[in-house]
Amino acid sequence: MSWQEQYKSRLCTAEEAVRHIEDGSAVVLAHCVGEPHVLVEAMVANAEQYKDVEVKHMVSLGSGGYAAPGMEKHFRANPLFVSANTRNAIVEGRADFTPAFFHEIPLLLREGKIKCDVVMAQVTPPDEDGYCSLGTSVDYTYQAIKSAKIVIVQVNDQFPRTYGEKVHVSEFDYIVEASTPVYESKPTQIGALEEAIGANCVSLIEDGSTLQLGIGGIPDAVIQLLGDRKNLGIHSEMISDGTLALYEKGIINGKYKNFDQGKMVVTFLMGSRKLYDFAHNNPEIEVRPVDYVNHPAVIMKQNKMVCVNSAIQVDLMGQVASESIGLKQFSGVGGQVDFIRGASMAEDGKSIIAMASYTQKKDGTIISKIVPFLDHGAAVTTSRNDIDYVVTECGIAALKGKSLRERAKSLISISHESARDELQAEFEKRFHEKFYAIAKTF
Ligand code: COA
Repeated sequence: MSWQEQYKSRLCTAEEAVRHIEDGSAVVLAHCVGEPHVLVEAMVANAEQYKDVEVKHMVSLGSGGYAAPGMEKHFRANPLFVSANTRNAIVEGRADFTPAFFHEIPLLLREGKIKCDVVMAQVTPPDEDGYCSLGTSVDYTYQAIKSAKIVIVQVNDQFPRTYGEKVHVSEFDYIVEASTPVYESKPTQIGALEEAIGANCVSLIEDGSTLQLGIGGIPDAVIQLLGDRKNLGIHSEMISDGTLALYEKGIINGKYKNFDQGKMVVTFLMGSRKLYDFAHNNPEIEVRPVDYVNHPAVIMKQNKMVCVNSAIQVDLMGQVASESIGLKQFSGVGGQVDFIRGASMAEDGKSIIAMASYTQKKDGTIISKIVPFLDHGAAVTTSRNDIDYVVTECGIAALKGKSLRERAKSLISISHESARDELQAEFEKRFHEKFYAIAKTF
């Protein structure tokens, strides 16, 4: 049978496709922008027909109807990264959370440690040989397609065709054609705070560095402030729109990358239509599986690898909580530790945790993000052994190779002024500063 015949024979509606999901099965949704909302909505609409269907994904931008109150009989969400649509369900005990490094997810799928009976993903229309691109989201989605017993795809002609791993029509069981706009993220707000943090980060980035930057005001401020650097490269979990401007100016050219020279390599994309149009059929940007892009053993081979990630709290030892506020799971490790470890092992690599020194509650109360102890129940995302630089608007704390005493001192110096007395009191209690001062006089 030709691929065209295979394609035609597997065409169906979303409603027909989701009827093949069996009770008790595990459904993996493609990551982030790749989530096929048409299929997810059809699955949720068919809820009455299911019992005990587990739904797994990393970043999910959809309505998350399967995690809504009242869906417990039909679905149980079990994400690997918590987004707004599952956060309350987890707090209320109606959903689970599975911690895992992003780079490890394909391996866990291959080994069956993460069960995947059905995968639902978005793809482009096939090329002349019957291959479809996974567009914005190759990450773990590629492996999930290889591992699943049932593969359901939404073929979307608005999805960008990117360079990277492709999948053949013969690998799909049910094909749903639906032309839908691709999710676009809103531009971030960059204020004086983000600019001050960004400027401190930029002071650590040398010409010829290869960068990983996440999404949000701080990474975007870093990008904006890199205008006078030269020959930067991108090897990053993702890129958003800000990176394009630097690329168009020739500041990002990948000239000194040790491999994938001249190309920007990512595992997923999230931005505006402009970013998707840029990536469409563009060999200068590759979207590759996460067990390649995020693997520390791959990242470490880039010279001057610099990664910038954020955190919720950092304690005086340099332990970083990035994914939970106390016991409340807020997000997940994502690729943070993948890149921190990779950059640490790279020649002249640097890893940066960049955050405001404080967060402000709705009633105006200031909460320091540098704390004597992490909140009760908080998960340590990046350990004190892995931490390198911590950057706030107040300065830079270089922690690698430093004693606990030196770390605490350095972190206090970049903390919010309202927290310094409390932090200093804890410092004196913990490190017996009096004795240290006496020893230094001899
Ligand atoms: N105590 C209490 N609340 C805190 C807090 C603290 N120390 N720090 C942050 N918060 C609250 C904020 O007030 C905010 O609340 P809101 O949603 O009600 O406004 C919320 O947590 C998010 O804080 P914000 O500073 O806006 O976070 P962010 O969107 O910049 O995300 C992380 C920061 C750390 C949560 C995010 O970077 C993350 O999930 N990191 C882990 C994954 C990762 O690094 N991946 C790799 C990059 S692609």
